[in-house]
Parts: sequence; structure tokens; C-alpha cells
Amino acid sequence: MFSNISVAPPDKILKLNGFFKADPNPDKINLGVGAYRDANGKNYLLPSVRRAEQMIYDQQFPKEYLPIDGYAPFNEAAARLIFGKELHNEIKERTVTVQELSGTGSLRVAFEFIHTFFPDAEVYIPSPTWANHAAIVKKTTLRAARTYRYLGNRAVDTEGMLEDLRAAPAGSIILLHPCAHNPTGYDIPDDQWGRVFDVLEQGKLIPYFDSAYQGYASGDLDRDAHVIRDAVKRGFEVFVSQSFAKNMGLYAERAGALHIVCGVPQVAEAVRTQIKSTIRAMHSSSPCHGAYLAATVLNTPELRAQWEVELKAMAARIQEMRQALVDALEKHGVVLPGGNDHITRQVGMFSFTGLTPDQVLYLRDNCSIYMLENGRISMAGLNPSNVDRFAGFVAEAIKA
Ligand code: LMR
Repeated sequence: MFSNISVAPPDKILKLNGFFKADPNPDKINLGVGAYRDANGKNYLLPSVRRAEQMIYDQQFPKEYLPIDGYAPFNEAAARLIFGKELHNEIKERTVTVQELSGTGSLRVAFEFIHTFFPDAEVYIPSPTWANHAAIVKKTTLRAARTYRYLGNRAVDTEGMLEDLRAAPAGSIILLHPCAHNPTGYDIPDDQWGRVFDVLEQGKLIPYFDSAYQGYASGDLDRDAHVIRDAVKRGFEVFVSQSFAKNMGLYAERAGALHIVCGVPQVAEAVRTQIKSTIRAMHSSSPCHGAYLAATVLNTPELRAQWEVELKAMAARIQEMRQALVDALEKHGVVLPGGNDHITRQVGMFSFTGLTPDQVLYLRDNCSIYMLENGRISMAGLNPSNVDRFAGFVAEAIKA
């Protein structure tokens, strides 16, 4: 029965973890997957989350099924976090929020819904984008996503992007990164978002924000969500996928949400019932533990304040590593194509270094450095003990 099934290609990002683990070199460096590491290169359980874990244990939170749409205190807190208290109060009657299996699950459910109710809608994703975006769109809508130009010469190609969006048919879904663009680290400049919104409005296009890094770009949760809030204030109906993997370190807990802001409450009610029936047929409901953790952190003032301090510190450490990398490259006489200043101009967890696939392979095969073939590194994998070594190996790879 299964004999004619061919082998699927491994995931470009997650396969690197396997290579890294199998490498016996004690000085190996993992710059692959976007997961925070502390200054000692260790994974990091946020102390605020640990305290929430203790509270959940002490209070014996139940393991009963959650409702199809998830844990209500989590949904409420997640919506307040992404939209801000004031806007959330204004729009909550016309907003559908459901708990989902982090960003990926949220995207998957949303695109199932899009496929069912808007089967002819084209989906546009930036080029480049997180590799899973294209895969999720293809699996759910059964059509390949179209792309719009995003990366220009070490900056966002705003003109190219707008030109491509102007050509999109009305009703197309436009996937946007509200901050900390993955994989490039280049965000649409603040003063250009108005132009993007003008094009979306004129073309009757639907913004879909994938928010996986709120708090990581600037260290400020409100600032990193302002693009989404501005779009809602301008009157757009929007989709938002929200993940707590990175900003709360809840990677394996799969804690996230899907928000759909509709025009009026009656429409939201219909959308809510359809989203719930989509979820029921896919995975019935979401797991409780991650939602309990996130809700406890967000809804306990003392923990919330502690979390914000911890998040700021993570963002700041990454920022420091950007400068440290520029300094180390300079010390080793490395000038990446066009210069090195893009590393400190980029924001969020990633840097698109400009290294070629051959150089990346050289680094993997000869130096035990694991990074994406497109030249993306997770800045969180760098620390004071390995940044100089990394820069030295980059110098070697460029000469090879
Ligand atoms: C990444 O881009 O490295 C992360 O979003 C992790 C993932 O699931 O790919």
C-alpha cells in the first residue's frame, strides 16, 4: 500500500537541530532555529513563566478539555496584548479570538477557513518569508501562494512591494510581518506603512498579520504591535496570528491565538461559529498548559511586570550581539557584500547576513556552524564566548 510513497524533503529549518545534535565538536555553534539562547548559549526558561508554573501546580488547574475556542482568560489577555487595552475594548464585540497551536496552528486554521469561504482568493506572501508560510498556504488552500517583492538591496524594497500589491486582485489575502521580519530582519519603515495601507485599501486587499515576535523587535510590546493597531484603526478587517513561542519562551507548549477582526458583531458571531467548527474537525481544541501559563503571566500584575523586564533583556542581549558581531567582523577584516552595517540596522531575532549557500555549507562542513542556506542566522545563538570565533570562521569561508 505504501510502497510508492517517496521521501519528503526535510524541513529546512528544523533539520539543522538534528545536524547540530549529531555533531561531536564541543565548539559547535547553532544559529539555525529561531529560539532564544542566553549569554551562555543555554535555552532559557523565563523566571516569570517558572513562577506561573508553580502557581498553576499549587492551584491544581484542571486538565479537563478546554472549550473548542480555548481558555477564555488566555484569549482575553492575548487579544488585549496584541490590540492594546483601549482598542481591544472598542473592537472586542466584532473580534473573534480563538486559542490555537501557536503561530503555525493559527495560520493553518485561518487558511482552512479562507479555503472554505474564499476559495478563489489569492494569497500573497513576502519574498522571502518564513518557509512554512508557503507550505501552510499550499496544504490548506491547495494553491501555491503568490509572492510580492520584499527584499531589496540590504533594505525593504518598498517600491517593488507596492507595485506587486497594486497588481493583486481584489479580495486577495496579504500576509505581512508586523515586526521583526523573518528571515531578513528588515522591517517596513514606519513612515512607509501608510503607503502600504493605502494600496491595500484601494485594491480591497485583506491584511493578514503574522505576529511571532511581539516585544523582540524593539523590546516594547506596544511599539511592536502598532502596525496591527493602526490597520484596525484605519478600518481594515484583519487576520492576526499570534505566537507566545518566542516572547514567553513557550516553544513546545504551542500557545498562540488567532484573531479575526470583522466589521460588525453579527458577522463576527457567524465567523466564530465557522472557525470553531473548523477547529473541532482539525484537533477538537487546544492543550491547556501553555494557555494557563501565558494567561497567568499576563493576568497577574507582578508576573506581567517581571515578564516585560525579562523580554526587554532578551531583546537587548540580541541587540548587543548585533554590535558585537559587527565589531568582530571588522576585527577579522570581513566586509560582507555592501558592508556590515545592515547587521545593526536589522531587528528581531534574525540577521540576513548576505553569506552565500556555498559559504554556509563551508561553515557547516568545516567549522561546525549551523545556519540557514539563505544566509539567515539566529542572533540569539551568538554570545560573548562564540561571536569572535564565528566572525573568524566567516573570514575563512569568504576566502575559501
Ligand atoms: C524559525 O523561523 O526558526 C522559527 O520560526 C522556528 C520554526 O518553526 O521554523
